Amino acid sequence: MKRTNLLIRSALVSDADDFCKLLIKLDCETIYTPFQAGERSSDVNRYIKYLEEATKDSVLIFAIDPQKDVEKIVGFISAKRGATTKKRHVAAIGIGVLQSYLLSGVGRSLVNACLESSLKLGIKRLEAYIPRSNLRSINLLRKYNFELEGIKRKAVFINGEYEDEYAYSMISA
Ligand SMILES: CC(C)(COP(=O)(O)OP(=O)(O)OC[C@H]1O[C@@H](n2cnc3c(N)ncnc32)[C@H](O)[C@@H]1OP(=O)(O)O)[C@@H](O)C(=O)NCCC(=O)NCCS
Repeated sequence: MKRTNLLIRSALVSDADDFCKLLIKLDCETIYTPFQAGERSSDVNRYIKYLEEATKDSVLIFAIDPQKDVEKIVGFISAKRGATTKKRHVAAIGIGVLQSYLLSGVGRSLVNACLESSLKLGIKRLEAYIPRSNLRSINLLRKYNFELEGIKRKAVFINGEYEDEYAYSMISA
C-alpha cells in the first residue's frame, strides 16, 4: 500500500500509451476487469481513439503518481455515457487501481471526482455491473448510495465459473 499524494485529473489524449499499460497491468492483477490477462489490445492507436471519444463528453479520470517518470497512471475511473439522445443521461462506470496503491483512498478519490464530473456533464444515472464476489467494489459503491437494482444471472465467466453480476445504480438529484 503506497501513501503517496496522488494527482487526480481528467484524462488527456496524450495519456494513451500510459493508459494502455495501466489496463494491461490491471488485467494481470485482478480478475474483475472485463479482459483476461493477455486478451487486451496493446495497439496504442486504439487507445488514442478511445481517449479522443472519452475526453469529448464522457468521464475519464486518472490517479497519477507524480513521483514516477514512466507508467504514472496508477488508477482510473470511467463513466461512459450513452450515444443517443434517449441514453445520454446514462453512464456505465469502470474503475481500477493498481495493487500497490490499494486501500489508501484512491478508489474513493476517483469516485468523488467521477460524481463531480458526471454532475457537470448532466449525467443523471450512473450504473455499474459488478460480479457477485467483487466485495471491494460493492462496498465502495454502496458508500456512495449506489443501490442494488437486480441480478444479471450468470453474466460473467470468472475463474472457470459462471457468476452472477449485480446491477447497481445511483440517480443524481
Ligand atoms: C474497488 C477498488 C477500485 C477500490 O480501490 P481502493 O483504492 O482500494 O479503495 P479505497 O482505499 O478508496 O477504499 C474505498 C472503500 O472500498 C471498500 N474496500 C476497498 N478494499 C476493500 C477490501 N479489501 N475489502 C472490503 N472492502 C474494501 C471499502 O468500503 C473502502 O472504504 P473504507 O476504507 O472506508 O473501508 C479496487 O479494489 C480495484 O481496483 N479493484 C479491482 C478492479 C475492480 O474490481 N473494478 C470494478 C469492476 S466491476
